[in-house]
Amino acid sequence: MKAAGILALIGCLVAVTKPKVYTRCKLAKIFSRAGLDNYRGFSLGNWICMAYYESHYNTTAQTVLEDGSTDYGIFQINSFTWCRNAKLQDKNHCHVACSALLTDDLTDAIICAKKIVKETEGMNYWQGWKKHCEGKDLSEWKKGCEVS
Ligand SMILES: *[C@@H]1O[C@H](CO)[C@@H](O)[C@H](O)[C@H]1NC(C)=O
Repeated sequence: MKAAGILALIGCLVAVTKPKVYTRCKLAKIFSRAGLDNYRGFSLGNWICMAYYESHYNTTAQTVLEDGSTDYGIFQINSFTWCRNAKLQDKNHCHVACSALLTDDLTDAIICAKKIVKETEGMNYWQGWKKHCEGKDLSEWKKGCEVS
């Protein structure tokens, strides 16, 4: 009985920490529900395209940059300005721990991404978006997904 309980607990912990890679349509639904479609004029396709080129929809993606900062999560949000990690605590504009941007629950990452778009006036923050998504026909990105 005890052993079964412990096993169940371990199972839960593994489920929480295992990398989560979303499918395109699952992400489309989450983004749509979170109000990203047409947020500040950026259609849903922009967000799905951006997340693909930034993280390949991998919520646990982390990239350490040359300046010592790190990009976190599905939107590769940087620790220097936007979130708080052990090293750099100076700005943290999103008032969030960087580790909270790596979870399956995308709430914090979406709130922070909205803040970036608002404060930097657009999606230019994301190099992947600039290079691959900006100015393109992005309707394909939500094609076949049950979103309006
Ligand atoms: C997701 O990112 C993590 C951390 O970088 C990596 O270990 C994992 O292999 C990635 N998963 C996939 C399916 O690419």
